[in-house]
Amino acid sequence: MLTEKTRQAILELQKKYPEKRSALIPALHLAQAEAGYLPRETQNEVAALFGIAQNEVNSIVSFYDMFFDEPVGKHIIHVCKNVSCMLRGSDELINGLCQRLQVEPWSASQEACKRTSADGEFTVIASECLAACDRAPMMLVDDKVVGPVKISDLDNILAEAKKGHGHPCPVPLVEGNHA
Ligand code: FES
Repeated sequence: MLTEKTRQAILELQKKYPEKRSALIPALHLAQAEAGYLPRETQNEVAALFGIAQNEVNSIVSFYDMFFDEPVGKHIIHVCKNVSCMLRGSDELINGLCQRLQVEPWSASQEACKRTSADGEFTVIASECLAACDRAPMMLVDDKVVGPVKISDLDNILAEAKKGHGHPCPVPLVEGNHA
């Protein structure tokens, strides 16, 4: 269930746009900041606030890899697997992380990679281009772009990430909605 504070923040957000529907993605960020993911019940609440079909919200949540419909780790590591990064070793980086976090390895022939460590600290996601191709192979560690990354950097990247507050909400409209 959305808190009253978040419901109000979403309603305020809608007023900032000529079409309230344009506020949907930032509203989903706010909703996700509550529990760290968007269970179907929360998606449906957001749909009701916008007066749109539940399936429309669900299709957005399932399309963007910045939204999660199941619990994820405190820290999110997106590793770009697109061409520039792949040619410079991103597969190795993804599996280097999987190995360090003791989660199932990934192969490029698989459609998707989303792995969460047993301690709930990290989720590793193989992502499409993250628009920092000049830093290939690169990753987005919570909200920080890191790259070019070498295998030998991974331990340090994980240790540094652990010191941070975790995956932040990019919409700073609700006091305390940041992790
Ligand atoms: S291909 Fe990796 S950031 Fe663009």
